[in-house]
Amino acid sequence: MNFKNQLDQDPIFSKVAKAAEKLGLETYVVGGYVRDLILGRPCKDLDFTCVGSGIALAEEVVKQFDYHVPLSVFKNFGTAMLKLEDSELEFVGARKESYRSESRKPIVEDGTLQEDLERRDFTINAMAISLNSKDYGDLLDPFDGLNDLKKKNIQTPLDPEITFSDDPLRMMRAIRFAAQLEFDIEADTFYAISQNAHRLKIVSAERILTELNKIIQTPKPSYGFKLLFASKLLHEFFPEMVELQGVDSVDDKSHKDNFYHTLQVLDNVATVSEDLWLRWAAILHDIAKPATKRFNPKVGWTFHGHEDKGARMTPGIFKRMKLPMDERMKYVQKLVRLHLRPIALVKDEVTDSALRRLLFDAGDAIDDLMKLCRADVTSKNNKKVKRYLENFDKVERKLQEVEEKDQVRNFQPPIGGEEIMETFDLKPSKIVGDIKEEIKEAILEGKIHNKPEEARKLMLEIAIAKGLSPKK
Ligand code: CTP
Repeated sequence: MNFKNQLDQDPIFSKVAKAAEKLGLETYVVGGYVRDLILGRPCKDLDFTCVGSGIALAEEVVKQFDYHVPLSVFKNFGTAMLKLEDSELEFVGARKESYRSESRKPIVEDGTLQEDLERRDFTINAMAISLNSKDYGDLLDPFDGLNDLKKKNIQTPLDPEITFSDDPLRMMRAIRFAAQLEFDIEADTFYAISQNAHRLKIVSAERILTELNKIIQTPKPSYGFKLLFASKLLHEFFPEMVELQGVDSVDDKSHKDNFYHTLQVLDNVATVSEDLWLRWAAILHDIAKPATKRFNPKVGWTFHGHEDKGARMTPGIFKRMKLPMDERMKYVQKLVRLHLRPIALVKDEVTDSALRRLLFDAGDAIDDLMKLCRADVTSKNNKKVKRYLENFDKVERKLQEVEEKDQVRNFQPPIGGEEIMETFDLKPSKIVGDIKEEIKEAILEGKIHNKPEEARKLMLEIAIAKGLSPKK
């Protein structure tokens, strides 16, 4: 198979080939680029391997440009990187030791192309295309990666025990590629993952998270999670999610399996949003169900307070997994805490103040909260699903009406602390906060409108009742 025509589409290949020829270095484009070219997927980053010095090759490639291109050289690792406008090129000499993403290990020994390819993770990532004049564009595929691409198969080039012990993160990568490409994992490779899952312990939380987030961002994330669960990799870094799995029965009463329910919610959310954090909210929305599970003979299984407990568990899970401890965590926490609130607003007699409180508590997250609630409807009974979703339509209409009237979604107090202090000649103190809080409560309760004049009048009433008098 020859890819000369495809290589001719991008002038970078002729530049690299020219530089390689000048130095007399056997050179190939390898790895992810070759895989994605065959699959017809876009791929921005290019990896070049030569038999010899990758750094020397990169330095010669730079000379092929008639404008300045920034080159970074990592002498200890024998690699060099070249940054173009919208892609990164990496140059490395063929090596005998294994490739790891973000490897900080110096190269041990130079090797041949064959030796280089066999220490890579999967057959589909162990193909090379020649940039040498004698066979320019030819595919080199010593492990039948092309066939695995056709069969949609993830398989290691060597005995999987060797490939995974070289870098245990590859077990996560196997599942990530399976999830992204919708491939299967070959039986021996999958068996080796399940046997070596405990070795993930030596991999940093950051590297695990990078792969996990890629799995979460696939169109149907449940597939990757089912593989993580079945291989027991999930048990290594996300025991809370594993805990969700299983069904208990007492007196013939069972609850649903919250692991599979959560995956369904996650898939549902994925059909309406690409947002990673909304997907994390779906993953965590029921995370405290195991911890709050009770059996009550009169009503069956209950999970009282799982939304609050789940919100309290969220920072700990984020911290351990090295997820960001900033407003993104707060957003996920908010959705977990509020995920039962909209359903409580379905009843006809629901008051405007309850609607205002939800708008106030959710703020800008209200639309995502409604997406999560809709995704949470996973009943198999179509009639029920239809009824629940119609109920949410109703809640959304009511929320919209109230928001139009009262604008509490991004509530800004109509009277600030400054004005209160100025009016009553006060220094910053608790009483100022108390007055502000009472005004906010009055607005949310619908006692006054969200208007400065009404708030000012109420401020005077509250303050006078507290024994204050306005400044003369
Ligand atoms: N590789 C490997 N083992 C790893 C990481 C990388 O063998 N733990 C090899 C693979 O041949 C891979 C190449 O290095 O194709 C480049 O790695 P990377 O950029 O991480 O992955 P890509 O395959 O390019 O895929 P993606 O860009 O989707 O991460």
